[in-house]
Amino acid sequence: MGLRATHTGLWTDQGLAILVLLQCCSAYKLVCYYTNWSQYREGDGSCFPDVINSFLCTHIIYSFANISNNEIDTWEWNDATLYGMLNALKSRNPNLKTLLSVGGWNFGSQRFSKIASKSKNRRQFIRSVAPFLRAHGFDGLDLAWLYPSRRDRGHLTKLIKEMKAEFTREAQGGADELLLSAAVSAGKVALDSGYDIAQISRHLDFISLMTYDFHGAWRGTTGHHSPLFRGQEDASPDRFSNADYTVGYVMRRGVPANKLLLGIPAFGKSFTLASSETGVGVPILGLGLPGRFTKEEGILAYYEICDFLQGATVHRLLGQQVPYATKGNQWVGYDDLESVRQKVQYLKSRQLAGAMVWALDLDDFRGSFCGQNLRFPLTNAIKDALAAP
Ligand SMILES: *[C@@H]1O[C@H](CO)[C@@H](O)[C@H](O)[C@H]1NC(C)=O
Ligand SMILES: *[C@@H]1O[C@H](CO)[C@@H](O)[C@H](O)[C@H]1NC(C)=O
Repeated sequence: MGLRATHTGLWTDQGLAILVLLQCCSAYKLVCYYTNWSQYREGDGSCFPDVINSFLCTHIIYSFANISNNEIDTWEWNDATLYGMLNALKSRNPNLKTLLSVGGWNFGSQRFSKIASKSKNRRQFIRSVAPFLRAHGFDGLDLAWLYPSRRDRGHLTKLIKEMKAEFTREAQGGADELLLSAAVSAGKVALDSGYDIAQISRHLDFISLMTYDFHGAWRGTTGHHSPLFRGQEDASPDRFSNADYTVGYVMRRGVPANKLLLGIPAFGKSFTLASSETGVGVPILGLGLPGRFTKEEGILAYYEICDFLQGATVHRLLGQQVPYATKGNQWVGYDDLESVRQKVQYLKSRQLAGAMVWALDLDDFRGSFCGQNLRFPLTNAIKDALAAP
């Protein structure tokens, strides 16, 4: 990172001051999502923003906000309270930045389309954002349009460009300029059709690559959903389905590395096996059983995986550099302390801006499931690896 290079270059008279600086803050970003629905998980799964350590992440993104009558709006009845809880973390760590994410799966692409495609709607939406963010104490906006289609591509570019211009204009009042970021699909097909990725990167402070969900039950076989590299077992159409491919591809299309965040999932994707075969690429019946807390088929929070691992068999995919575990007829591909460290090594070697974590409430945020007696073990491992020399 530029910042680190300069600081090490200045290593002279002010040696002491600089040493302190280097030890205190890694120049890398660690951008962590928190989801509005995690509060409703039962018992130990229920997560409120006040459990988050103020120094864990450099940025926290609250997801998701709604858009109502072309204006940004809350989603949950108690969002305003939760916004307050989240933004209160900044009183301990004034360097922490918080963003509000708008969109998400339930929001749907069509509604985004309607707003982005008409200049009147776009203007109305854009005008509503800064006052809303300021009123609730956020430092920026994150766009989670899942996913723009080919027809939306130009509109997304306009939306981002005009939003950024509005933020710049608004900051002339003297406040710090609001940040603007976007979460972007990591699939090659969605990237090609929905995004002028180089164009939008010029107006965004950072881009979160959702480098997960590469493999799903639609394939009819087991496979890891967030491999770092292509594996020996990957068939030729799978050569795009790994984080390394996405990063390289996006950079080849003209996105500067220092705008890119590598997305790291604090969740696994699970399948129910169809036979006694338990490897990669073996037949499945469908999605895996729902987790006790997240209650959704085919997905397990990292803390639920820690439970699952008791009595399970763990394998590590050497080429893809990620683990999977099997127990009975259940198969789950996930990330653990070792794989997230490898992902951080990788993003450093490519000089990316940092890592994104989806999501804090899926990590072992209580520190009671994974036996490490540490809250947020996965996110902490990412943080430590980013800070390591
Ligand atoms: C949280 O936001 C999402 C938007 O993706 C919305 O669908 C959901 O209803 C909200 N709240 C809960 C409890 O899920
Ligand atoms: C989100 O906005 C839409 C459009 O105005 C509205 O129909 C919907 O009820 C809103 N959702 C929530 C949870 O407020």
